[in-house]
Amino acid sequence: MSLINNLLSILEQNRNTYISGQELAEKLGVSRTGIWKAIKRLEEDGYMITGVNNKGYMLSGQSDLISAEGISIYLDEVNKKYPIEVFKSVDSTNTMAKKLSLEDKKSELIIIADEQTAGRGRMGRNFFSPPKTGIYMSLVLRPNRHISELATITVKVCVAICRVIDRLTNLRAEIKWVNDIYINGKKVGGILTEAVTDFESGMVESVIIGIGLNIKTEDDDFPSEISSVAGSIFPGNVTRNEIIGEIINEFMQIYLDVDNDDASLVMGEYKERCFLLGRNINYYISGKKFEGEVVDINDLGNLVIVNVTGEKVILNSGEVTLSGN
Ligand code: BTN
Repeated sequence: MSLINNLLSILEQNRNTYISGQELAEKLGVSRTGIWKAIKRLEEDGYMITGVNNKGYMLSGQSDLISAEGISIYLDEVNKKYPIEVFKSVDSTNTMAKKLSLEDKKSELIIIADEQTAGRGRMGRNFFSPPKTGIYMSLVLRPNRHISELATITVKVCVAICRVIDRLTNLRAEIKWVNDIYINGKKVGGILTEAVTDFESGMVESVIIGIGLNIKTEDDDFPSEISSVAGSIFPGNVTRNEIIGEIINEFMQIYLDVDNDDASLVMGEYKERCFLLGRNINYYISGKKFEGEVVDINDLGNLVIVNVTGEKVILNSGEVTLSGN
C-alpha cells in the first residue's frame, strides 16, 4: 500500500480524533513534511481533514468519501479478503465488474463508484447515479453452481440490504418484488444481478450483483421521470463506507450460510417486507396488461398471483405496479 493509503487507513480508524504529525510520521516511516504533503493530497481529493498546531490531524466524522480503507474498518475479518476497487466515476460498476471478472477468471471482487455515467437498471432502464450522494457497487462472486440454483440470490441481497438499513437508521425498509428497496413508499434503491454462464453446461462462471442506493439525493435532484417514485435513505451521520461494509457483511453471512442454501430462512423475511403481498396489482405478459391479487411468493422467489378470472399465474420476472397507481 502507498503512503496515502496507509495514512488514510490510520485517519479512518481514528475519525474525529487528532493524531500528531510526529506520531503519523513515526508510524509510516516518513518525515513530518511527507505527512503534510500526503494530507494535502487527501484534502485535494475531498477529504475533510482538520490540522491544528500541537494537536495534529483529524479526519472529520462528516467526511463521506468512499474508500477501500474506510470500508475495511467495518468489514468482518472473513470479508477482508475480497479486493475492493473504488472509482471516482465509471459508466457502470456492473459493466466494469464484468470486464474485470473476464480478465481474471478466478477472483471474487468488489467494484464501487462514487458516480456512474451510464448506470443500468433492470428492464434496460437507466439508474440515476449522481456523485457524492449514492452507493453504486457490484460484487463479483464465483458460486460454481448451475444457473438454476441461483434463483434466490437477489432475495438474499434484498433482505441483507433491508436489515442494514433498519439497523443503521430508525427506518423500516420494504421490498417491491422483485428487487426494489422502498422506504416510506419511495424507491431508494434497486438490484441488478447478471451472470456469465457457460452456455453448454449452464454452469455459472461469475455472478455480478449490482446494488444501487440513493443515500442522500435531494428530492429536487431526481430527474422528473422518476421524481414521484424515487427517494433517499438519509441515514443521519452514518457514512457510505459503513453502509457498504455492513451490506457486505450481512449479505456474505446469508450467502455463505450452508444451512440456508435454499434461502428458506430469509424467504419468510423477504415476504414480510414485500408490500405487494395481498395487494391488487397490474402485471404484463408479452406486453399485455393484466390484473390480479398477489397471494404468495414461492420458494424460488416467484410472484404467485390469482388473476381476475380466478386462475393462478406465476411470474418469475418482470415489472408490476399496484393497481390504481
Ligand atoms: C433497478 O432499480 O432496476 C436496479 C438498479 C441497479 C443499479 C446498480 S448501481 C450498481 C450497479 N451498476 C449498474 O450499472 N447497475 C447496478
